[in-house]
Amino acid sequence: MAQRREFLKAIGALAAAPVMAHAPRAFAQGRPVRAATLTAAPGRQQIVPPEYPATDIWAFNGTAPGPELRFRQGERVRIAVKNSLPQDTTVHWHGVRLPNAMDGVPHVTQPPIAPGGEFVYEFDLPDAGTFWYHPHEKSHEQVGRGLYGAFVVAERDPPPVDRDVTWVLSDFRLTPQAAHAADWDSMFDMSHDGRVGNTVAVNGKFTARDGAFEVTRGERVRLRLVNAAVARIFALRFRDHAPVVIANDGQPVTPHPPENGLIVLGPGMRADLILDCRGERGKRYEVADEFYPRSRERLLWLAYRDAPAIESESRDAPVALKPNPLAEPDVARATRHEILFEGGAMSPRMMGRGMAGMGAGGHPMLWFINDRAVPDDHRAHEPMLDLKLGGHYVFAMRNDTAWYHPIHLHGLAFRIVARNGQPTRWREWADTALMAPRERVDIAFVADAPGTWMFHCHVLAHQHAGMMTTIRVA
Ligand code: C2O
Ligand code: CU
Repeated sequence: MAQRREFLKAIGALAAAPVMAHAPRAFAQGRPVRAATLTAAPGRQQIVPPEYPATDIWAFNGTAPGPELRFRQGERVRIAVKNSLPQDTTVHWHGVRLPNAMDGVPHVTQPPIAPGGEFVYEFDLPDAGTFWYHPHEKSHEQVGRGLYGAFVVAERDPPPVDRDVTWVLSDFRLTPQAAHAADWDSMFDMSHDGRVGNTVAVNGKFTARDGAFEVTRGERVRLRLVNAAVARIFALRFRDHAPVVIANDGQPVTPHPPENGLIVLGPGMRADLILDCRGERGKRYEVADEFYPRSRERLLWLAYRDAPAIESESRDAPVALKPNPLAEPDVARATRHEILFEGGAMSPRMMGRGMAGMGAGGHPMLWFINDRAVPDDHRAHEPMLDLKLGGHYVFAMRNDTAWYHPIHLHGLAFRIVARNGQPTRWREWADTALMAPRERVDIAFVADAPGTWMFHCHVLAHQHAGMMTTIRVA
């Protein structure tokens, strides 16, 4: 019982995580700038139940996830990142459309931030939505140790809800002493499905046993889901509830129930849901994770307070979000590029041709995008494609591997227009497209941001073993 209360408290407190609401401290070109500081440093956190030790983590401002950064659409932000880690780092603002120099990619958009160093990121926020931040240096290890956080940009005029809550989903691979397993460069992880952990966490706490998210009958919750895991894919089912998806990867979508009732999020992906709490008072309902069929797990309980239903004023309000100012790709006149993903375990390519040299850490390169594997330090790397600024493009991506890959493009949002040759139902905007084994996915976008942008798999062990490249827009 004590434990149960402990977890209720933990999740309750995290759900109400303090938001960064600094007063403007500075002005840029006559406009106020909202300032924040993130310090990346070793820390310690009780991830698993209290009968186990706390875990030595790396974290932003002491906790994993780090602080939820909350801003408003149209604001300009200035975020100082201090590195108190024993190795280089950077911060990438995943999904935020910003100038290339602020994108946080070591060796491509900036030099890495050395231990003891600092880098100040400053950019405008053109889009509202649910984004996130994480290092881009050795990210398979740094994200895995706990360096990530939510980055929320509120609409100027958000749909009314009773609560706006973020669940940062992740997992950890822990030893029986609750320490990170030390096999960061595991060949098996790199060549199979990445470093899938054994301890799923919501907002940095293991919740599967008796963790609960408390709700009151009658309330309407906007739930922002962020998959910050280095490899784990989530497929969430809300038992006896009917969540409505209103945004993917921060970008508004026609409100719709999730396909087959499952919210599927590959690493890096986000979803915004409207959850109307219509369960019975005093009862609890499971939120299940059904992605890995052989290890179906509970994520947590939705626990209804034993309290009278509230009359939500927002209940009948429309939930559709206003679109962000994105340039609409014209698929008919777009230039088409075929992008082929190969490699990994059970691939003829790996068996037949062997590996493609070594990465910066001396590990083999196992994955290929259009025939090339790029090491972390981008040594001798040339962009895969040169795109014309303002041009319209379709990337016809083909996953010729036995594995899932969430493919992320920096700096630009794209529409997912077709899967296996069939038009998609919602033509959703995204910054990360999950490709199933052997699947073909067509994405379309306008290359309206100049610079050299990363294009890579967000299973971070795959990225580490070569599954990344860049495109250059000029
Ligand atoms: Cu979220 Cu290039 O990464
Ligand atoms: Cu991958």
